[in-house]
Amino acid sequence: MSQSFFILGAGGHAKVVVDVLLQRGQTHLHIFDDHPAKLNTTLLGYKVEGSQQDLLYAYSQNNTVQVIIAVGQNETRQSIYEVLLAHGIKFGNAIHPHVVIAPSVRLGQGLMIMAGVVINPDVTIADSVIVNTGAVVEHDCVIGAHSHIAPNATLCGDVRVGESTLIGAGAIILPGIKIGSSCTIGAGAVVTQDIPDGKTAVGIPAHLT
Ligand SMILES: CC(C)(COP(=O)(O)OP(=O)(O)OC[C@H]1O[C@@H](n2cnc3c(N)ncnc32)[C@H](O)[C@@H]1OP(=O)(O)O)[C@@H](O)C(=O)NCCC(=O)NCCS
Repeated sequence: MSQSFFILGAGGHAKVVVDVLLQRGQTHLHIFDDHPAKLNTTLLGYKVEGSQQDLLYAYSQNNTVQVIIAVGQNETRQSIYEVLLAHGIKFGNAIHPHVVIAPSVRLGQGLMIMAGVVINPDVTIADSVIVNTGAVVEHDCVIGAHSHIAPNATLCGDVRVGESTLIGAGAIILPGIKIGSSCTIGAGAVVTQDIPDGKTAVGIPAHLT
């Protein structure tokens, strides 16, 4: 059944989110972006209709719509999420049809899960998380709200990721490792030790910068 979506954001990440929804057969899409230069531009054939304020107004007229914040930057997505949540907005999930998600996985709302992702049993994924193209999230991992697991990253079993953390493209997090909130793990890193809140780590084995 086709459902209407409001998508906030019209950049590169939003393009992938729109594609995911189209691949799911969802064609009732409305795109909003706060940058005036984006107004009336098109994303995969859909015109940018207005700003975040316009989205809020349109939602007040039709609250059966599901909203997705298609913004890649974690802190920005988190702050928009908190504003929209305070307005009572209901968030949808954009999950590509070609993913493998075990039935025991607990999923939040406002998620973006791209093509080729594998999420194994007993994983918990909080709200507004991105699991990007080809990422692997092994059994028993927990991913905090507003975090982003970038393309081809691998979380081995029982990894904990805090809130608003970026696990860079192709990074590998070894089993049982705890990564704090607001961390950045560089592309291609191999993380062998816990990473405290707010830290950036790069390299093999990963070291704090
Ligand atoms: C780690 C990262 C955040 C650093 O970004 P930055 O603060 O702008 O750092 P710079 O590019 O100025 O590089 C600083 C130093 O770190 C090194 N460095 C940068 N990224 C690195 C990485 N992923 N692994 C190893 N070293 C890295 C640079 O070579 C440079 O070294 P130098 O000081 O010896 O010259 C970034 O390079 C990165 O990997 N981001 C992840 C991007 C990603 O996967 N996004 C997902 C999009 S879907």
